[in-house]
Amino acid sequence: MRIRLTNIREIVTPVCPDLAVGDNMNHLTVYTDSDIILSDGMIESIVHRNQSHPDVDQVVDAENSVVLPAFVDSHTHLVFGGTREDEFNLRIQGKKYMEIAAMGGGINSTVRATRMEDEETLFEQAVRNLRDMVAHGTATFETKSGYGLDTETELKQLRVIKRLQDTQPVGIKATFLGAHEIPTEFRNRKEDYIKLVCNEMLPAVKEQGIAEYCDIFCETGVFNIDESRTILRKAKDLGFKLRIHADELTPLGGGELAGELGAVSADHLVHVSGTGIDKMIQAGVVFNMLPGTTFFLMSDHFAPALDILAANGILALSTDFNPGSSYTHSMPMIITLACLKMGLTIEQGINAATINGAYSLGLQDVTGSIHPGKQADLTFLDAPSYKFLVYNFGVNRVRAVMKKGKFIFQKS
Ligand code: NIG
Ligand code: FE
Repeated sequence: MRIRLTNIREIVTPVCPDLAVGDNMNHLTVYTDSDIILSDGMIESIVHRNQSHPDVDQVVDAENSVVLPAFVDSHTHLVFGGTREDEFNLRIQGKKYMEIAAMGGGINSTVRATRMEDEETLFEQAVRNLRDMVAHGTATFETKSGYGLDTETELKQLRVIKRLQDTQPVGIKATFLGAHEIPTEFRNRKEDYIKLVCNEMLPAVKEQGIAEYCDIFCETGVFNIDESRTILRKAKDLGFKLRIHADELTPLGGGELAGELGAVSADHLVHVSGTGIDKMIQAGVVFNMLPGTTFFLMSDHFAPALDILAANGILALSTDFNPGSSYTHSMPMIITLACLKMGLTIEQGINAATINGAYSLGLQDVTGSIHPGKQADLTFLDAPSYKFLVYNFGVNRVRAVMKKGKFIFQKS
């Protein structure tokens, strides 16, 4: 089945198919006179709009859209019970995120809701959120457990993720985040919880083969560096690849640990140190920045994205979608924040949200850019140019989203 995608205002793609780093981060390739030929859901070629192609089965009119690679959101928490809008209201009035957590709110309140919810309801809520994210241009996701904090509920969340993988027309990578918080019942015996994660949860998740990555909330008052190292080493020994919530609220040394352990990605990094940056670069760890979280937690201290670019680090951007610290479905919003608050250019923002997210999930051969041989994972914008994605802030310009050559969202 060969499709010709025609009437495209701009085709916009990262320059290289594998990764945007160094000067490539500053550029996008833009075609203003071309069509895309798709073959069996894959990108076959980009041809001049006047060039004929002999064997096309169908012509699809892009309605003068700007066409970009669909976004890759490489850090989300999609599966949870309940929502936390009342905590949000408290934070607006001056309560701090960690104060709310200490009062029994925060992650542990979502844990209570997630434990109570049945699998079907969790699945339905996740699907609704996923669809809203697709409607904002995302077609590939990483998503985590971490609101169970007991073996049964962590596995329940991961089964929901597996069901999303099996039923939803998007790409999804699964991460085990049993060390997201200390559950209330282990508050005074954290050592025992760490043993539970290492000796029961990780082996059970491994045996069921339902998560590729292991992540941890490495943070003051949650898991310190030594505790994080213990859990992540165990995960690595079992064959998990590693991701880390690192240096989000305090400068603890999570970046250094990510480098030491050869994590695939370290995320947040608001307070990453110079040594942390060096160690991550040496080990090729992706710097995954989540400016939506900083914004939503009402801080003015954003992660040092420009330092990472100056050092030729690999920079990705993600929503961190979750009910507490970043309740947004929108990658365009994240790119706008990255530009306005961290100083990225529009081109750097789009590279970070597409090809570098794909790279961090090991999917750079299949998605994240518009190059022959990749899946036709495309986002269509109703806009005069790709720059309006960022410039027209707070407005969803996404008209349609395609995954493997099929529309998975079309604005009605
Ligand atoms: O990525 N930082 C820790 N975990 C989440 C927050 C989860 C929550 O508040 O429910 C995060 O920001
Ligand atoms: Fe997170």
